[in-house]
Amino acid sequence: MKEYKNYSLLIHNTFGMDVKAERYVEYDSEKDLRMLIPTLKGKVLHIGGGSNLLFTGNFDGTVLHSAISGIEIVEEVEGENELLVRVGAGVVWDDFVAWAVEHDYGGVENLSIIPGEVGASAVQNIGAYGVEAKDVIVMVETIDLSNGTTRIFANDECNYAYRQSIFKKELKGKYAITYVTYRLQKTPVLKLEYGNLLAVLGDALNDGELPTIKQVRQAIIDIRNAKLPDPKVQGNAGSFFMNPVVSREKFLSIQKDYPQMPFYEVEGGVKIPAGWMIDQCGWKGKALGRAAVHDKQALVLVNLGGATSDEIITLCNTVCKDVKEKFGVDIRPEVNFI
Ligand code: EPU
Repeated sequence: MKEYKNYSLLIHNTFGMDVKAERYVEYDSEKDLRMLIPTLKGKVLHIGGGSNLLFTGNFDGTVLHSAISGIEIVEEVEGENELLVRVGAGVVWDDFVAWAVEHDYGGVENLSIIPGEVGASAVQNIGAYGVEAKDVIVMVETIDLSNGTTRIFANDECNYAYRQSIFKKELKGKYAITYVTYRLQKTPVLKLEYGNLLAVLGDALNDGELPTIKQVRQAIIDIRNAKLPDPKVQGNAGSFFMNPVVSREKFLSIQKDYPQMPFYEVEGGVKIPAGWMIDQCGWKGKALGRAAVHDKQALVLVNLGGATSDEIITLCNTVCKDVKEKFGVDIRPEVNFI
């Protein structure tokens, strides 16, 4: 267990905000966490890789971080294609994906190089290229931060939806995730339909040939690297906004003016890419102070260097207002403001 007072969170948030936590504790096991719980007084914030946060000031409370490690196959039935893998919440998400791909286990390759840690994958229901964490999560082991008891959530108890879960909403801040169990496939069932994935893979394949899981991971890495800024170079938290779902009527009325608008039919309406709308508003690559809209993917806001949270929030609000004026659609941040 590591503990610090008045601790800089600079390396713990990918936006690069230089804020401090009154107390910062990193624990390595469930036992350590249980010991820690009686000492938690006042505000508590549990972070993962800090890749989906915007700190708006110092945190006058305790910041917790899990360093629970381990990737373990817990169930593998002869003759069945599935296997269950239990992973510590503190494992870097992409280390788990790399492990799976290395062993030719399918299911998470489309989620390659998403920043963050395993615990957060289950909170955030991370998703990319037609796959979401909820598609592969079997169960989530947690510890109740009020009394140290264990509670296991089956997938259907997590209330998963697009970038949503019970851990982000109803039970926010109440449980610390300790382990997540995922269902992987021994013979990968590839998902290649999203966007330009097939086109990118196409170059590496002969006619009719199916890609290997390693090729899929490489294609995803190439697409992401081409579009998304590297937080080590330019502070950012991935998609800053969620893609809004609008009613069919609203969608049809926008489509009349913008027949080329990309869209996805979803339950309850039509999802429109916020990045496309922001791009149409002319914001792509533009800055307000030291905060900017990324020049290759308008869904991402970046810190050009030394931006304050106020500068990022001003840019966020201005972009939202412009999208509302042009399309009549409200877009909301995906990033959590702390
Ligand atoms: N588009 C533009 N201009 C832009 C950005 C996008 O015209 O500046 C258009 C694209 O051409 C495409 C459509 O909008 O037709 C969708 O773009 P893209 O495939 O890049 O995906 P997205 O909807 O913008 C979502 C996720 C990403 C994820 C990709 C791929 C959210 C909030 N974001 O972005 O997730 O990688 O799909 O699956 O759902 C993240 O959460 O941090 C993240 C990067």
